[in-house]
Amino acid sequence: MKRSFKIKQVEEFAGKNLGAYDSGHDWWHLERVRNNAFQIMEAEGSCDQVIVEIASLLHDIGDSKFMEKGSEDPARLLHRFLTGLELEERIIEEVIFINRNLSFSKGKKPERISVEFMIVQDADRLDAIGAIGIARAFNYGGFVNNPIFDPSGRDHSTISHFYDKLLKLKDLMNTGTGRRLADERHRFLELYLEQFYHEWNFGKRSEDQQ
Ligand code: ADP
Ligand code: NI
Repeated sequence: MKRSFKIKQVEEFAGKNLGAYDSGHDWWHLERVRNNAFQIMEAEGSCDQVIVEIASLLHDIGDSKFMEKGSEDPARLLHRFLTGLELEERIIEEVIFINRNLSFSKGKKPERISVEFMIVQDADRLDAIGAIGIARAFNYGGFVNNPIFDPSGRDHSTISHFYDKLLKLKDLMNTGTGRRLADERHRFLELYLEQFYHEWNFGKRSEDQQ
């Protein structure tokens, strides 16, 4: 099986398995993550390009936020699919490892991380910040009907998600290139928040301001 054909199969499989995800997790997210990963890969040097590309496309398969009850264990699903593509077991294991350990919500770093893992994680994190990240956050917030903002601060608003996650990502980047790319997007988050509060407080008397 030719490599380009295998990648086509992965693209098709990834597209089909998006399921009922919000549109921040649609095909275009996968495409952007792959592009981000290629940019980082070019700058960072030696790694396995096949693993980076396949893991980028499959990184969101089985996200627990969007899993339907009773659906197949994602690792088994991926193993079956990737074995069918006649990929080396080493590649299959790494793609599955990346898929299972990438998420920010899981909190801690896995005990061993490969350069491919670091690249795909940075690529995914870049798509959560900057202008696209803001669009995705408000899209997700709308999907689960969270408030945009609650000045009390004890809330599940999308603005509080900036502090819970988005503003932390810059310092969690694994690679130098990822960090450099994250800097620009991080500054845009800060600029956005500044303007958001400016508009939120517009016309308020100063003692009322939050
Ligand atoms: P990860 O895969 O790193 O755990 P998620 O799947 O949680 O990331 O996040 C995917 C996208 O959804 C990101 O753009 C993230 O900012 C957004 N998102 C996740 N949780 C929330 C939330 N509570 N409010 C707004 N956006 C969210
Ligand atoms: Ni993702």
